[in-house]
Amino acid sequence: MEIIKEDKVLIIGAGGQIGVELLEELNKLYGSSNVVAADIKQSNAFSNNAFEVLDVLNKDQLLDVVKKNSIKQIYLLAALLSATAEKNPLYGWQLNMQGLFNVLDLAKEKQIEKVYWPSSIAAFGTTTPKQNTPQYTVMEPTTVYGISKQAGERWCEYYFLKYGVDVRSLRYPGLISYKSAPGGGTTDYAVHIFHEALKTKTYECFLSEETTLPMMYMPDAIQATIQIMHAPANDIKIRGAYNIAGISFNPKQIAQEIKKHIPDFTITYKPDFRQEIADTWPQSINDIEARQHWKWNNKYDLPTMVNSMLSNLK
Ligand code: SER
Repeated sequence: MEIIKEDKVLIIGAGGQIGVELLEELNKLYGSSNVVAADIKQSNAFSNNAFEVLDVLNKDQLLDVVKKNSIKQIYLLAALLSATAEKNPLYGWQLNMQGLFNVLDLAKEKQIEKVYWPSSIAAFGTTTPKQNTPQYTVMEPTTVYGISKQAGERWCEYYFLKYGVDVRSLRYPGLISYKSAPGGGTTDYAVHIFHEALKTKTYECFLSEETTLPMMYMPDAIQATIQIMHAPANDIKIRGAYNIAGISFNPKQIAQEIKKHIPDFTITYKPDFRQEIADTWPQSINDIEARQHWKWNNKYDLPTMVNSMLSNLK
């Protein structure tokens, strides 16, 4: 791994599901004095790090934060997720796209050197092959979030090709974690289910029992993020976003796994509007390019993820 200890790193959206855990790992790599947390909401959760209240749509404020802290790298994690963006399409589009442009432009103007921006399995759509979905395939997303991710991927590659911007990206599956709550995603049931299993031993799922989706345990997602950001630039041969795969399962399967630990756990199903979103996404992902280009490898399967989630939440 190429780690430049003096590089100052900014996480935008540091209070979110990914940000909280990425910050911990970046603190280990760079030292907390070199990692700056930013979020749209004031927070005192970041006692070891400098913290900035920042609206990524405010370009002047963003530049001020970058200059003031001598930032070299930005991890842009502020976005509206799939379910929330469907409720506020124009704001979802604006935040997800203009936020990306504001950060990419800083790199184009050489104010910063490297950008991380997450894409998602939501960039695929109903016409995409659902099983073992390859890196290169039909992509016709039907959600605002998915459209913003697909367009964002194209813009990342464009900024790389035209302006030499060093931007790197992953198509995250649904992310499962215990340290911070997810917000507004279609895959969030796979987090809520653990909280309810421990609290009430029952869970009403907003997706049907057979809805298989690609998922990943957060430690794997953080590992992939750190790995792609620290791989030599020549190894990053895809400047849109890389497929990465973890675990694929449906609500029935995760419930069965939870039952091995909590035998009287029960699940019921009441699909809502998120079912329609989930039905447009792949069920499993082929990530051979990430494995070959920068040696990505996931560690967790369904049993080890469930075991870890339950013991940490207890
Ligand atoms: N987990 C995200 C969502 O459900 C997908 O990237 O919106």
